Amino acid sequence: MSVNRNPVVVIDFGAQYAELIARRVREAHIFSVLLPYTTSCDEIFALNPQAIVLTGGPADVSEKDAPRIPKGLLDAGVPVFGICYGFQEIANTLNGQTRKARVGEYGLVEMQVNNVGQKNKLFENMPDTEEVWMSHKIEVSNLPEGFKNYASTLDTKIAAFGNEDKKIYGVQWHPEVVHTEYGQQMLENFLKKIANIKENWTADFIIENQVNKIRSQIGDKKAICGLSGGVDSAVAAALVNKAIGKNLKCVFINHGLLREREEKSVEIDFCKSTGANLLVANDSKLFLEKLKGVKDPEQKRKIIGEQFIRSFEKAVSSLDDDFGFLVQGTLYPDIVESGGGAKKEAGASTANIKSHHNVGGLPDDMKFELVEPLKNLFKDEVREIGKALGLPDFIVKRQPFPGPGLAVRIVGEVNGRNLSILRAADEIAREVLEPYYEKIWQCPIVLLADVKTVGVKGDERHFGHPIVLRPVASEDAMTADWFELPKDVLTKVSNRITNEVKEITRVVVDVTQKPPGTIEWE
Ligand code: XMP
Repeated sequence: MSVNRNPVVVIDFGAQYAELIARRVREAHIFSVLLPYTTSCDEIFALNPQAIVLTGGPADVSEKDAPRIPKGLLDAGVPVFGICYGFQEIANTLNGQTRKARVGEYGLVEMQVNNVGQKNKLFENMPDTEEVWMSHKIEVSNLPEGFKNYASTLDTKIAAFGNEDKKIYGVQWHPEVVHTEYGQQMLENFLKKIANIKENWTADFIIENQVNKIRSQIGDKKAICGLSGGVDSAVAAALVNKAIGKNLKCVFINHGLLREREEKSVEIDFCKSTGANLLVANDSKLFLEKLKGVKDPEQKRKIIGEQFIRSFEKAVSSLDDDFGFLVQGTLYPDIVESGGGAKKEAGASTANIKSHHNVGGLPDDMKFELVEPLKNLFKDEVREIGKALGLPDFIVKRQPFPGPGLAVRIVGEVNGRNLSILRAADEIAREVLEPYYEKIWQCPIVLLADVKTVGVKGDERHFGHPIVLRPVASEDAMTADWFELPKDVLTKVSNRITNEVKEITRVVVDVTQKPPGTIEWE
């Protein structure tokens, strides 16, 4: 029996968590696509969706210009699940009522399922009382006809509702955020028990899907892929390699900002495991010249992004072929944090936190059309795909490493001296922390080149630099917590770095969460 591959369509009302909802659906192993609320019903139903999820959003449903559910969406017999704004807008569309809440609810709130809710599939395998994460100042005050109230909180009488015949449901809270303990359970109840969707989102399916997309974008033309040595570009290259084979050429621009031994690993190990066609261009001197005297992180990123493309163009022009496409391993968090994402397509905007070199830092007059097969995916999904494509563990399990490399891990000028100090310290830290790599997301090692601190080495006063260890735990790098390494491990890293790297007098641990801190220091 063939699996139904039709998607769950997530309609975005400008929610902060829109892609996260799409991701939660995929975590249930069900294919999902995210579309802005401005999409017409014809376009939505052309995809034959198996179910529809309506996201939250910042607007007030009672405002004249508030985003609306595409006309006819609730009449088609396709199961619908509304979250927060989506929930209120279902009530609004079907002649229920909403009003300004007497008390807005923000953060964790206790929710109580009533007798009617307890009998409903939406609440299967969930406790009757649950902490849920809320963020609203509007509430549903009257149910639409044919709907039943399922749950309440202290301040919100109608906190969840549904119409079993129409298979339309909604909740006031946010099941997609980790703080709502049974959020994923509820989403899966809706998808699997109410909409009866069978699991269809597997690594093999993503690969098949992407390979088809890549083939239709590139056709029989030629593409070039920039390898950075990291998992993202490696997986993107392997995917495109599968799609267009010998029409892909991989180029590794050695910008001189990699960690110890990494250049060799790209040159030898990657090629061996993928059979990819690779050209290595060593422009490290050029990058260092351009970075001379530069201390501002955004300026470093822009310089590296720009030079990266120029180096690419130069390397490509040395080849006889005509390449029109550039493959990049951009992930979804890169796009969001560079101020893009589905919200941008829907007309809203997100703040630019950092210009990731493979998104915000590209020059306007770039000669290539971009191919970004991973741009809707999160790191863990990319790792799964890499594994399914047969990439070895040392590539698939590699910690994330920023495109601008060690340049954004040197607070101060990027020069040969500072790079070799950082490389030496980084090498030691990696060696000692290796056993923890399954638990930590990544551990940037940062050189505070512009800071000097007093120490004692060999009974003498020594004026050297501090090194920062930044071990973090994270699910997708959008948020992160600092990771508590055992004292003996920290002591070992600290002793070895201060003993073996003569310019370092002090080792400190960064204990900042993200937000407010980012993972990389620059
Ligand atoms: P931040 O520092 O923004 O990092 O919390 C989030 C994740 O992204 C990585 N990172 C980058 N990746 N190009 C990349 O490809 C970049 O310019 C870049 N800057 C940060 C970072 O290592 C972390 O995993």
